[in-house]
Amino acid sequence: MTAAPIVIVLAAGEGTRMRSSLPKVMHSIAGRSLVGHVLEAAAAVEPAHVVVVVGHGRDQVVAHLEEIAPWVDTVVQEEQRGTGNAVRVAVEALAAQGVLGGGPVIVLSGDTPLLTGDTVRSLLTTQQDSGARATVLTADLDDPSGYGRVVRDADGMVVSIVEHRDADEGTLGIREINAGMYAFDPQALVPALGSLTTANAQGEEYLTDVIGLLREQGDPVAALKVPDSDEILGVNDRVQLAEAAALMRDRINRRWMLDGVSMLEPESIWIDVDVDLARDVILLPQSTLRGPTSVASGARIGPGTTLISCEVGEGATILHAWCELAVVAADATVGPFTYLRPGTTVGAGAKAGAFVEMKNADLGARAKVPHLSYVGDAVIGEGSNIGAATIFVNYDGVDKHPTVVGRHARIGSDTMLVAPVTVGDGAYTAAGSVITEDVPPGAMAVGRSRQRTIDGWVERRRAGTAAAEAARVAQQEEAP
Ligand code: UD1
Ligand code: MG
Repeated sequence: MTAAPIVIVLAAGEGTRMRSSLPKVMHSIAGRSLVGHVLEAAAAVEPAHVVVVVGHGRDQVVAHLEEIAPWVDTVVQEEQRGTGNAVRVAVEALAAQGVLGGGPVIVLSGDTPLLTGDTVRSLLTTQQDSGARATVLTADLDDPSGYGRVVRDADGMVVSIVEHRDADEGTLGIREINAGMYAFDPQALVPALGSLTTANAQGEEYLTDVIGLLREQGDPVAALKVPDSDEILGVNDRVQLAEAAALMRDRINRRWMLDGVSMLEPESIWIDVDVDLARDVILLPQSTLRGPTSVASGARIGPGTTLISCEVGEGATILHAWCELAVVAADATVGPFTYLRPGTTVGAGAKAGAFVEMKNADLGARAKVPHLSYVGDAVIGEGSNIGAATIFVNYDGVDKHPTVVGRHARIGSDTMLVAPVTVGDGAYTAAGSVITEDVPPGAMAVGRSRQRTIDGWVERRRAGTAAAEAARVAQQEEAP
C-alpha cells in the first residue's frame, strides 16, 4: 500500500486583474468559491493532509477556509516570490509537522475551479504507475500565450518547462502548455526546491524549474495531457470568471438532464453545486436554484424563478417567484409574481398566488392566498381562504406580532388582520374589515362602518359633468 498523498494548493497570489476587494480564490461560481472547487477535486485522492498557501488577503481566505473546509491547514507565504517559493514554504511547514513522508505531493492552483476529481486521481495514478519522480499535467491549447511551454526531447519525454516570458521564438511555437498542477515524489522535490534560483525574466523562484532540474540529474519525469482543456482554465479576471461559470453551468445541467431532469433552454438555468433534483423535475427558462435547494419528482419550476435554500415537494408548481428558505409542499402552487421569504411553508395542495408576499408563515394544506396579499408571522389552518388584498398587519412600529387563522376560515377581501389576533376555525370576516379583536370559531366579524348613500348628490354637486349626464340618462331609462 502506498502512503496517502499530500495536497498543496497555491493561493497566495494577489489576483490583481480581478480588481476586487475580495481575494480571487474566494470569488464563487455555482455557489462555491474557486478554492472550494479545487478542494472538492482534491478530495478525490483522499489526501492525508491538505495545505493551502495563503498570502494576499490571508485573513479573509483563512476565515473562509475555516468555514468551508476546517480540515485544511493554511501556511502563510509572506512575500509572493514565485510558485517554487510557495511550495517550499508549504513543504517546510509539512516537514516541521513531521508529516512529509513517503506519500506523493500533489500541487494544485487555487484558481482552477473546473478541475475534476477524476483528473487529480489520474495525475496520481500516472505518477505511481510510471515510477516518475514528478508528473506534470499538460494541455494542448490553440492559444498557448501566457502559459509555460512543455519542452519534450526526440523520444517525446518531458525535458523542461519554459515560461512564456523566458521563451525563444521556437519554444513559443509549442502548443502544449503546463497546467500548473503536478505530482511529486517528496524525496526528489525537497532538494530540487532548495536549488531554485531567481535567474529568470520575472525574478521569481519558478516551481516549473524543478522539472528541468530533475531531468538534468537523470530522474524520470512523466506528463499527463488532459483531453478537455476547459478543466485547467485558470480564473484571472472577471471575463474568465464568467467563462468558468458558464462551463460549470453546462457541466451541472448536463449531469441533471442525464439523470432525468427536463430543461427548456438550459443555458438560462443556473444550478448551484449543492442543489438536489429528483427525476422528472421540469425546469423552465430563466430559473436559478441556489444553496442546498431540493426539488422532488414532478415539480415544475419556472420560468423566471429563483429558489434559495428551498425545499419543494412532489408535483409542486412555482412560476415567476423569488423564494428563500421556504418549503413548498407536494402539489402546492406558487406564483406568478410571488415572494416567499424565510420561514414560509406552503402546505400540501395549498396556493400562494399573484403578488403575494409571505414571511415566517405557515399556510395549511389546501389553504389559499390567491391574490395581492401580505402574510407575515402567521399560521393559517387547512382549507382556509384568504381573500384578495388581505394584509396581516404584523408590525406595530416597534414589535412583530403573530396572527392565527383557524381551519376552513374565510377571510373577506381587503381584510386587515391587526396582530396579535386569532380568527377561529370556520369563522368569517367581512370584506374590508379591520380585525383587531379575536373572532371565535364559526362567527362572522364585521369591522367596518356601515355604508351611507346620499341620493341625488351628483345632480346637485356635480351638475354639468359627464357623470351627472350618465346618471340622468340612467334615471330616465329606469322611469316607467
Ligand atoms: C504558472 C506556471 C506556468 C503555467 C501556469 C498555469 C510557474 C512559474 N509557471 O504560471 O508554467 O503554465 O501557472 O496556469 O509556476 N502563487 C503563490 N505564490 C507565489 C506565486 C504564485 O501562491 O509566490 C500562486 C498563485 O496565487 C496562483 C498559482 O500560484 O494560484 C500560480 O501562480 P501564477 O502567478 O498565476 O503563475 P503563472 O504565471 O500563471
Ligand atoms: Mg496564473
